[in-house]
Amino acid sequence: MRSERAAAKLNLTLHVTGRRADGYHLLDSLVVFLDIGDRVTVAPGPLSLAITGPFAAGLDNGPDNLCLRAARLAGREVAITLEKNLPIASGIGGGSADAAAVLRALDARPDHPESLGADVPVCLESQPMRMRGLGEILTPLPPLPPLHLVLVNPGAGLSTPSVFKALARRDNPAMPEVLPDFPDTAALVDFVAACRNDLQEPALALMPGIADCLAALTDSGAWLSRLSGSGATCFGIYADAEAARAAQARIAAAHPGWWVTASGLAPARATV
Ligand code: C5P
Repeated sequence: MRSERAAAKLNLTLHVTGRRADGYHLLDSLVVFLDIGDRVTVAPGPLSLAITGPFAAGLDNGPDNLCLRAARLAGREVAITLEKNLPIASGIGGGSADAAAVLRALDARPDHPESLGADVPVCLESQPMRMRGLGEILTPLPPLPPLHLVLVNPGAGLSTPSVFKALARRDNPAMPEVLPDFPDTAALVDFVAACRNDLQEPALALMPGIADCLAALTDSGAWLSRLSGSGATCFGIYADAEAARAAQARIAAAHPGWWVTASGLAPARATV
């Protein structure tokens, strides 16, 4: 039996820089991993999936579930338990993070993990990365300064293909070819603020309630508020842990139907 964390991923930036003939989009994204996430446990088979945790009800455990697809790609018969702590279809990587955690738990390194989902390669690394191509070109980032975050999800999922479809422009500028150093949190926040999430505008058009999430973060003192991935989860970056905790309490009290969580970056994994 082996258990692996499936850390939530956050797109601090997400530039859509082009589109391939097959319809997939070229991305340039600063991806980080958080100290919150799902948990995957694998035990000797036959192949099965049991889902527990606060968001278990929203997720089907049929054969298309990414955890089962990951085990099949690895060619392994295992009994998987998924503790689903993250909201479903929310732009913070749940499904891809879960699939990557299954592969890690099985010590499996299939040739094309991106066939499970564009975010699976970066989730396999679970370390701060610049992600390009469709999601498979990864450049590790040096250790980042601390980030004090609050995540807010309005309680409804958003379909990634429909958000990409609603994009007005697909040839947006990439991030600078060479990224600056991030000696402290302020430098990182300045850089992130000068970049974009190009999926924010189409996501807002499809789900206008996202504007309320962004406003709640800004109104509670966030330096910056933005959508992660294709949404609908939004994040705010705060000056310190105390400010983030206070904002989390205030937003949660005002919006009992939302998922509201204070979070920070996952600790850097020891390198061997
Ligand atoms: O790979 P994943 O399942 O996360 O992607 C979901 C959908 O998002 C794809 O079917 C595609 O419509 C869109 N997508 C895209 N370009 C990417 C990643 C995803 O157009 N680089």
